[in-house]
Amino acid sequence: MIRANENYQKLKASYLFSDIARRVDQFQKKNPDTRVIRLGIGDVTRALPPAVIDAFHRGVDDMANDVTFRGYGPEQGYAFLRDKIAAHDYQARGAEVSADEIFVSDGAKCDTGNFQELFASDIRIAIPDPVYPVYLDTNVMAGRTGELVDGRYENIVYLDCVKENRFLPQLPKTPVDLIYLCFPNNPTGTCATKQDLAQWVEYARENQALILYDAAYEAFIRNPSLPRSIYEIKGAREVAVEFRSFSKTAGFTGTRCGFTVVPRDCSIFLSNGDAVSLHGLWNRRQSTKFNGVSYPVQRAAEAVYSPEGQAQISELTAGYLDNADIIGKTMANLGFDYVGGDNSPYIWVDGQGRDSWEFFDLLLQNAGVVCTPGGGFGRCGNPYIRISAFNSRDNVVDAMERLKEALK
Ligand code: MLT
Repeated sequence: MIRANENYQKLKASYLFSDIARRVDQFQKKNPDTRVIRLGIGDVTRALPPAVIDAFHRGVDDMANDVTFRGYGPEQGYAFLRDKIAAHDYQARGAEVSADEIFVSDGAKCDTGNFQELFASDIRIAIPDPVYPVYLDTNVMAGRTGELVDGRYENIVYLDCVKENRFLPQLPKTPVDLIYLCFPNNPTGTCATKQDLAQWVEYARENQALILYDAAYEAFIRNPSLPRSIYEIKGAREVAVEFRSFSKTAGFTGTRCGFTVVPRDCSIFLSNGDAVSLHGLWNRRQSTKFNGVSYPVQRAAEAVYSPEGQAQISELTAGYLDNADIIGKTMANLGFDYVGGDNSPYIWVDGQGRDSWEFFDLLLQNAGVVCTPGGGFGRCGNPYIRISAFNSRDNVVDAMERLKEALK
């Protein structure tokens, strides 16, 4: 008899976005004539930029010729891509990251989910509330939490992100070893300043803690004073791992490519106190369990860093930011408070006391518009909904017209 990993029994029945998809499908079956507009999951709708598509095609052509054909690539990613990432995303911004500290992968969801494998099962973990559910669920699966009690797992230090603290996690009152941070934040759309991040880096350095920093939405930052990488903060190289994605930056949600930066200066510790290199462990993990991202996809990602690619992705993210502006202004005109949407594609709307799943249902039933109920991201998210700016301009404008009717 094979015994199951009973930690899975502690999870909520389904993953948040699967749950929402099921509810939307049910609604669509009952209302086949309604054209549903999806502002729920942050899935891009615009095509890959032309520079990326050209490189993608050339990569496929390389595979059609014995001379240029590639078989297994390096598990860490091809040098042509890692070099560009290091130069453009880090060194050009004054952050000290070298190409061999970059691990190319099929996306930030997998990497943020998998990284916890490197840690002992009894570490103390701080997780913001609300939060991207992957960080929490993967630690539940690994057995690092107790049961779910009143919407919260035992043995997790929750960092409440509420109006009173501008939705920014505050330093924990009890000591922790591992800290998950995400900026621009999913789901609230808020951004951390350099000072905000410096506090966390200092905390991690003083407490031998590690920060897992999810920067999947950094390409939406327009305010030049905001940090786009945690490595813009002095001392972060010793205490932080950073996750990035081409999904939202360049339209790769269906193409799959991202990367994780594991600085060589980061260590974690054995029970006898000896330090082990985190870079070495992640490299060991990836070379054992992962065979790299396909060659044409890495060629496509490389093209993001060409001058044309840079101009095209900037236009792409600007289009979504304009959508975010339209959404924010509409909600404000309807009398709702919100945050996010200025350096982020997510708008976090205060439901004025409504339960977030009820608010979600109201928008779906009365307007045919899908949002994400804040409660799905944690207890502190419950009075909020998240509206995503990832859709066409026409659909966003149409959705806002419908909300004006449904909420007047
Ligand atoms: C979201 O909607 O939160 C994201 O699209 C989920 C993801 O990137 O996996």
